[in-house]
Amino acid sequence: MADKENHTNGVADEDKPARFGSYNVHSSAAKVEGKIYKDYLHLDGLLSNVDMMSAVNLKPVHDEHLFIIIHQTYELWFKQIIWEMDSVRRTLNVDVVGERSMLTILQRMNRVALIWKICVEQFAVLETMTPLDFMEFRGFLAPGSGFQSLQFRIIENKLGQKMENRVNQHTIIQSFQDPDSQSQLQVSLTEPSLCDLVIRWLERTPGLEEDGFNFPQRYAAAVRRYLADEEAVLQTEEDPEQRKSAEAEWKKQVETFDVLVNERAYNVERQLNKRRMTYKAFMGALMVSCYSSQERFHLPHQFLTILMDIDSLMTKWRYNHVMLAQRMLGSKTGTGGSSGYLYLRSTISDRYKVFLDLFNISSFIIPRHYIPPLTDHMSSQLSAHETLRLSVSDAK
Ligand code: HEM
Repeated sequence: MADKENHTNGVADEDKPARFGSYNVHSSAAKVEGKIYKDYLHLDGLLSNVDMMSAVNLKPVHDEHLFIIIHQTYELWFKQIIWEMDSVRRTLNVDVVGERSMLTILQRMNRVALIWKICVEQFAVLETMTPLDFMEFRGFLAPGSGFQSLQFRIIENKLGQKMENRVNQHTIIQSFQDPDSQSQLQVSLTEPSLCDLVIRWLERTPGLEEDGFNFPQRYAAAVRRYLADEEAVLQTEEDPEQRKSAEAEWKKQVETFDVLVNERAYNVERQLNKRRMTYKAFMGALMVSCYSSQERFHLPHQFLTILMDIDSLMTKWRYNHVMLAQRMLGSKTGTGGSSGYLYLRSTISDRYKVFLDLFNISSFIIPRHYIPPLTDHMSSQLSAHETLRLSVSDAK
């Protein structure tokens, strides 16, 4: 959670060595020759990489050009998303995330969300192709398939998509046969995902401590008050039909809230894979939502909102993609061997949402006037004044 900067365990993003994955980053000391536009961007290589398979029979199909360019554009955006996500994961992978780091995280994750927005919209360009045009070159594509988009899988893994939640676990592993792809995939599965890091960060939310503000206990008491008041209101309902349905609604609420006020019930749901976050992290997220107007929770609240935006946008991406696939293929099978439309449709479900817990927080929100008031100590801990004080001492 946001606090003073930590330079001991974690290394600030800016202090990382000048080499990132397969990229060389020039040190400021090295003398770098200026380059003209096309050389700087390696345009000769980039733009000569449109290799139309339909050209083999000397009759290139016009729309195959668009098909290739669109896929390449997506892969470039995927590369940028991975670049941003890696930097955010590094910045979050410390014991204490400072306010300054939090701003960087927000800026980069917001950028990822905006890229996904473009990716969602971009399908419209490919929709200008007709199924008949597609049929003209589709035969050349097999065994190539979107299943083999390594970067797409890496994004899912680095976000925290779990293998066991996927419909097609077997095919995913089979799709990547070369050792380099396999090792990249493996790394993306074993490193802490963004979701893992967000969970650790939320567990440190100030105010959760049992010997301090103890938000879980206060919230549970507030829920009990709220449910008791609701029950009292429904007892006054005179119409038997209305009362019956109000009682049913109330019982449902009691069951829902049981998961929150009863850690054991929560953990049972977690074992059943219905919840991803630990109880403590979930409580942290709930606390941030309840007190989002407190200065020190502004940025964390925005961060949680952006994580949900990204989940929503990826679901929209899957939806637009499946619509496109249905429009082009109808019920035909995919070149990667899946059932095509039916398979893709099954991926637009909640099991593919990495931050589903954050969406579910709304089930546990109670009316504002029931939310436990902050103590003076807690209130000052969450004020900007306190943040400033921490930053000043930090600078000494
Ligand atoms: C004519 C356009 C397209 C059609 C008909 C189509 C069709 C399909 C089908 C049927 C699959 C399931 C796997 C298979 O059996 O092959 C698939 C998967 C996939 N496609 Fe496409 N696709 C199209 C365009 C695109 C574009 C532009 C992208 C951008 C990168 C893309 C990325 C993917 C990815 C990442 C998967 C794996 C999805 C998953 O397993 O969750 N596809 N596509």
